[in-house]
Amino acid sequence: MCGIVAYIGPREAYPVLLKGLKRLEYRGYDSSGVALLNNGLKVYKKKGKVAELEESLVGKDLHAHAGIGHTRWATHGEPSDRNAHPHQSANGKLAMIHNGIIENYAQLKNELLKKGYSFKSDTDTEVLLNFIEDIQINNDCGLEEAVRIALKRVVGAYVIVLLDEDNPDTIIAARKGSPLVIGVGKGEHFLASDASPIIEYTKEVVYINDYELAIIKADELVLKNLGNEKITPFVQKLDMELAAIEKGGYDHFMLKEIFEQPDTIFDCLRGRLDIINNTITMAGVQNNIEQLKNANRIIIIACGTSWHAGLVAEYIIEELCRIPVEVEYASEFRYRNPVVHKGDVIIAISQSGETADTIVAIDKAKEQGAFIFGVVNVVGSSIARISHAGAYTHAGPEIGVASTKAFTAQLVVLTMIALKIAKEKNSINEERYAHLINELHNIPEKVKEVLLINDVVKNIAVKYKDATDALYLGRGYNFPIALEGALKLKEISYIHAEGYPAAEMKHGPIALVDENLPVVFVATKDIYHEKIISNVQEIKARKGKIIAVISSGDEIIPAMANDVMIVPEADEIVAPIISVIPLQLLSYYIGIAKGCDVDKPRNLAKSVTVE
Ligand code: M6R
Repeated sequence: MCGIVAYIGPREAYPVLLKGLKRLEYRGYDSSGVALLNNGLKVYKKKGKVAELEESLVGKDLHAHAGIGHTRWATHGEPSDRNAHPHQSANGKLAMIHNGIIENYAQLKNELLKKGYSFKSDTDTEVLLNFIEDIQINNDCGLEEAVRIALKRVVGAYVIVLLDEDNPDTIIAARKGSPLVIGVGKGEHFLASDASPIIEYTKEVVYINDYELAIIKADELVLKNLGNEKITPFVQKLDMELAAIEKGGYDHFMLKEIFEQPDTIFDCLRGRLDIINNTITMAGVQNNIEQLKNANRIIIIACGTSWHAGLVAEYIIEELCRIPVEVEYASEFRYRNPVVHKGDVIIAISQSGETADTIVAIDKAKEQGAFIFGVVNVVGSSIARISHAGAYTHAGPEIGVASTKAFTAQLVVLTMIALKIAKEKNSINEERYAHLINELHNIPEKVKEVLLINDVVKNIAVKYKDATDALYLGRGYNFPIALEGALKLKEISYIHAEGYPAAEMKHGPIALVDENLPVVFVATKDIYHEKIISNVQEIKARKGKIIAVISSGDEIIPAMANDVMIVPEADEIVAPIISVIPLQLLSYYIGIAKGCDVDKPRNLAKSVTVE
């Protein structure tokens, strides 16, 4: 939620900020702005996408060697020029960008109003900034000291980055609960919400931890805690290439990421799955195998698409490991009073590793003694760091707001985890274990095969683009895929869609079915196949339009369906990894046919770092 970028050094700051904002736009895109130190502080901001800001600045003198930039996903205050960041303090000397929410902003605002402050925006950010300015004036102290004092009063989550007109050679940043990476160049520093704006200039990075303050000059990086004690920065090497964050010839990141899946799944399996010796190597699982295989219960916590991966994992782990599994929305788990015991294992699933609800839910489970295993895509992210152990999904940077390749990589990792635990627990026989290893090994090739139906799906999409509603139905392992298909359609094309277990349809949703309703069946060959054929018949009898994802060789469903998307046959445990792909393509092409901005759907942002 919100992207931030900053630069200090010998380069021209504005082009660095602009490029960075374009890379971070997936995090929020309702307004954007920059502040530059150029003979005083200059602040420019604009409602709309970064391109609109860029256009509004053509012809302006933007020369500066220090600057901050922000692309916003609104929380406090509507998207508008005045609510866009950076904000300027009342005396005009400070500029600040912020990612997060200041929960006690109303109280701080009241205090400032009583002191005569007035506000130009509706944001919590401007309140915090003026609070900092007020401390600076009253305590007659420097900005660093004022920020430290202010943050001790702040309740909420933040990354803040400040420029000070009186100290043009210094940028000050602080973090709690939102991500911040510092790129360390030669005589220059870069700051950003993730590594994408930095990668082209340096691969040396420092991840800032909660309650840390960074005092950054072109050639110096000082880290301190809120107690003013120095911390030695831990410089890491980024394992990411520039090509990974560019579109590489595709019209949209979403399409690129869908088509990357044979490679990302291969990368996820590489070095882990050994089909010659029938082994799975995952240090995070192996080193904690006693804890995992003896778990009384596994609780999976996640949000959105990651939660759907958790639902598939529930079926797989219970089937293979015979350990009871519960799947919780992180946002519910964190606020109720869940029963968690020492012997419980939490599997936290997150692409970004920065989802606020998931982070707080982990903290809560940790306090109650649970063991936390993270399944995360972004290396070095908050969830990766707060988990006791974990496994990365290695899907590479996912820029499209709709999660695609991260989801299939999550399914692959979770299946490997389940298989490894089952093997150690002896809850799976040799033959089934070897068969599933082989099935996983074959997935990248099968995904390549699915992608060959791209044009078929594109044509189907055009037929259904004007639908106002859609129903997605599946059974067993494919039920969460029905949920995921419906979520993708909603996000990308704004068509109302619902996912249901196919049999549950009779308990209500069937009332919606008429000749205008597209009903998407995820009906690959598995033990439920005959049952789902009956469900297809029930929809056909009510004249619903049937679109079905089916396995090759199925001759029954094509005779009943209006449209079919054929995928290769696979064991039911790995089938979801394949059956979701036509649904990703379907939502993409419906979104395109409707003229939607599929990489930046309205109201959404890639990583939800606010609750
Ligand atoms: O980064 P996370 O996996 O924790 O994100 C969770 C959800 O916000 C995310 O999956 C969201 O639902 C996507 N937009 C789905 O496409």
